[in-house]
Amino acid sequence: MLYRPVKAYLNLPALSHNLTVAKTLAPKSKVLAVIKANGYGHGLIRVAQQLSHADGFGVASIDEALILRQKGFLHRILLLEGLFSKAELPLIIQNRLDLVVHSHYQLEWLLEFTAPFGINVWIKIDTGMHRLGFEPDEVNSIIRQLESNSNTFHLHLMSHLASADEEHSAALCFTQQQITTFEQVSAAYDLPKSLLNSAGVQRYSNQGFEWIRPGVMLYGSGQVEESGLKLQAVMQLESKVIAIKDVRSGESVGYGNSWTAQRDSIIAVIAIGYGDGYPRHAPSGTPVLIKGYRVSLVGRVSMDMISVDITDYIGLIEIGSTAELWGDSLSVDEVAQWSGTISYELLCGITQRVPMIERH
Ligand SMILES: Cc1ncc(COP(=O)(O)O)c(C=O)c1O
Repeated sequence: MLYRPVKAYLNLPALSHNLTVAKTLAPKSKVLAVIKANGYGHGLIRVAQQLSHADGFGVASIDEALILRQKGFLHRILLLEGLFSKAELPLIIQNRLDLVVHSHYQLEWLLEFTAPFGINVWIKIDTGMHRLGFEPDEVNSIIRQLESNSNTFHLHLMSHLASADEEHSAALCFTQQQITTFEQVSAAYDLPKSLLNSAGVQRYSNQGFEWIRPGVMLYGSGQVEESGLKLQAVMQLESKVIAIKDVRSGESVGYGNSWTAQRDSIIAVIAIGYGDGYPRHAPSGTPVLIKGYRVSLVGRVSMDMISVDITDYIGLIEIGSTAELWGDSLSVDEVAQWSGTISYELLCGITQRVPMIERH
């Protein structure tokens, strides 16, 4: 299997660097490193090991949390969607997991249960995203119910930003509104609070509260404006040129003949496709770097191959030349933007047949 040239190299020290960037931006906050979805596609355990100096981890399910506990991680681990079934509660208690409570059915399960020791509960408040969380005017009653229960609940307040990564004025206004709502609802309670995801940390770090919850920035996606705090790509997706073809002006390339040469062209075929997680929707024009030269995808992405136009680099690119699909020099954000998606989807979507090779 390793003979096929597609590889995802993982620059693990970049994870630590990016965590340091997050800490530098919000120096008063503890960091809950979000490593759900198999560490955003990079491998849960290797990411947790590299980020072991984080103050805690955020995961999407008890399965991920238990893998971490079984591997000996003693950190705070927050179940970001709380529990899906009442049957999880004994395991949550036994494994000392933190949990989000976002809905009344979860609250009832908690209130009915008898826990032998305290549980860290994060009350999720819907400040405008309208996905998970209690309405702001319910928060007081939720807190009172939890505080008056016979169990000991260590309460936290949290919310999630919907548009912190967008810069147009409506989004900026919306984010500000969410921040204000969270501040107003939570101000009365002397409880640990958490609001910011990666984009929030990058833009509103003065609102860091006690905990920040960065995810995608730890993997190197996103822009940090401050100089000297550049994020580093963790994943470098590479393959090689496996064929070079002459295509005459007027001839087309690939499935559906969707790209037609406007001049006599040289086309290089690279061994990577949607079967590896390269986005099938990447259009002609999407950049690829070969030996550092920026070339353009042409025609449709196949399961195992893509084609690029190397006409301007005749003699410089040859069979066996290394292609970077994303990584250090070509950001996953740029490829995602070309493909009409987000870096998260590309990073999580690398398929099992792609070997991940750690660089320390
Ligand atoms: C509740 C919560 N907090 C934090 C994060 C991390 O977000 P990001 O990867 O944008 O930093 C997520 C991710 O979706 C989330 O659901």
